[in-house]
Amino acid sequence: MPEPLVRMEKICKSFGPVRALQNVDLVLNPSEVLGIVGDNGAGKSTLMKVLTGVYQPDSGRIYFQGRPVHFNSPHDSRALGIEMVYQDLALAGNLNVAANIYLGREPTKKRLGGLVKLLDHKSMADGAARLLERLKIEIHSPTLLVETLSGGQRQAVAVARSVGFEAKVVIMDEPTAALAVKEVAKVLDLIRGLKEHDVAVILISHRMPDIFEVCDRIMVLRQGVKVGDVLRERTCMDEIVALITGAQEEALQYCLEVV
Ligand SMILES: Nc1ncnc2c1ncn2[C@@H]1O[C@H](COP(=O)(O)OP(=O)(O)OP(=O)(O)O)[C@@H](O)[C@H]1O
Ligand SMILES: [Mg+2]
Repeated sequence: MPEPLVRMEKICKSFGPVRALQNVDLVLNPSEVLGIVGDNGAGKSTLMKVLTGVYQPDSGRIYFQGRPVHFNSPHDSRALGIEMVYQDLALAGNLNVAANIYLGREPTKKRLGGLVKLLDHKSMADGAARLLERLKIEIHSPTLLVETLSGGQRQAVAVARSVGFEAKVVIMDEPTAALAVKEVAKVLDLIRGLKEHDVAVILISHRMPDIFEVCDRIMVLRQGVKVGDVLRERTCMDEIVALITGAQEEALQYCLEVV
């Protein structure tokens, strides 16, 4: 087995009396698509916020490519190539696609003997066009304003922005929740494309068909506890739903009671 890209060990995180994560382990292998599922409030987003340094865990350890790491902020995790795709919210609708992709890392060119720094729009547009092509994202032109794009296209721009710059892990929290069927298919294609480019993906979704379509492995959280971690080819939707709801344990409990 290759070394896991990411290993989280015994992560605990509480918010006051709420134990959002209790001794949660997570392994993400290179080029793997890992699905994380669970009911509302199960701890999925919190676990990803711990992985990206938004929250610090109360206890537990994180390893990246075998080395222990400590993330004080998303800046630290991003420096290692861990990117969270923030959805529409983080895109600037009044800027064009290229400007959004380069937001915060815009190339500049010097004029007047270095006295003036100008944004290099041409190299941003060219770089963005190459990136969109590499990821097979169908957007007419990198100079289109983001506010004129569909929900799926915006999602794609958000992904392009995060993977464009050496991402090794891309985390997507409910990327398809608000999308039309056709657009969902494109986002799923994009996830498969990332895998082909050796980017590992963590996908959080309540949509079981999406999870089963693209994930190699599925991890289930219930009330802050990991209750399942199974290869997709060895499971089925009924089993995952039973793990999510706890139906399996209830059934077992019932059997024990009637015996
Ligand atoms: N910043 C916070 N302050 C207080 N409680 C929080 C905070 N963030 C999360 N929680 C609590 O931690 C638990 C886990 O929340 P989390 O957002 O991780 O769930 P989730 O699995 O992502 O759910 P959903 O599917 O609804 O997005 C919940 O009980 C939630 O109320
Ligand atoms: Mg969530």
